[in-house]
Amino acid sequence: MSDVLREVVILGADDIAMWAARLIEAAIDTSVKARGVCRLVLAGGRTPAQVYCALAQLSIIPWTDVQVYIGDERCVPPTHADSNYRMIAETLLSAVAIPAAHIHRLRGEIGSTAAAAEYQTLLDPLPEPKFDFVLNGVGADGHTASLFPGDARVSTAREWALPAVSPPQFAVTERVGLSMRALCSTRVACVICTGAEKRAVRGAILTGDPVAQTLPAARLRGTERTIWIVDAE
Ligand code: 6PG
Repeated sequence: MSDVLREVVILGADDIAMWAARLIEAAIDTSVKARGVCRLVLAGGRTPAQVYCALAQLSIIPWTDVQVYIGDERCVPPTHADSNYRMIAETLLSAVAIPAAHIHRLRGEIGSTAAAAEYQTLLDPLPEPKFDFVLNGVGADGHTASLFPGDARVSTAREWALPAVSPPQFAVTERVGLSMRALCSTRVACVICTGAEKRAVRGAILTGDPVAQTLPAARLRGTERTIWIVDAE
């Protein structure tokens, strides 16, 4: 059985983006009031784009007190159509007053090993938990970020960032991303899992299926909260 206490929020598809945006807004407010900073990790892929558009519309967020990190990146230039950073910049970062120095890109364009080493150097000095809020996506196979099923490093890696290779069906296979240790070094872990193609994996994980608990996405947890946002079936 899973040892993770997960909060599961079931919403209509049209309500998810703004609900998640408000959750991030609240995490930023809590973190900045408590520590003067919010260290926020944003996910790539397609699902979060609408969340970022909604977040960009919220006017009271103190973006000058937010440090933004990226959960994982494809090893392409930041202007490439498959770049997670490009999607995040287009939907959120270009629309809010966050200082450029507060945006910490995973520089996939320098290669996965070099980019992972660069992020390791960036993250290592930070106090633990490293982050206040980590937004995660889930693949239909149960991967999250660039951590794929069968990768032993998911449960063993002590690094904060890792080079990765995705299965061949993914558009860009050379990747770099946070380790599971890093993804879980957060006060709040939020997982957004929507769409019919993910119903099976989400159901298996959230009902405590023993095999599913070994999947990367099932291992996500925060030190204070672990929240899954799913769409109503
Ligand atoms: C990526 C993401 C990846 C994503 C899942 C879900 O670089 O692709 O980090 O882990 O979160 O694959 O992707 P969708 O949101 O597009 O379904």
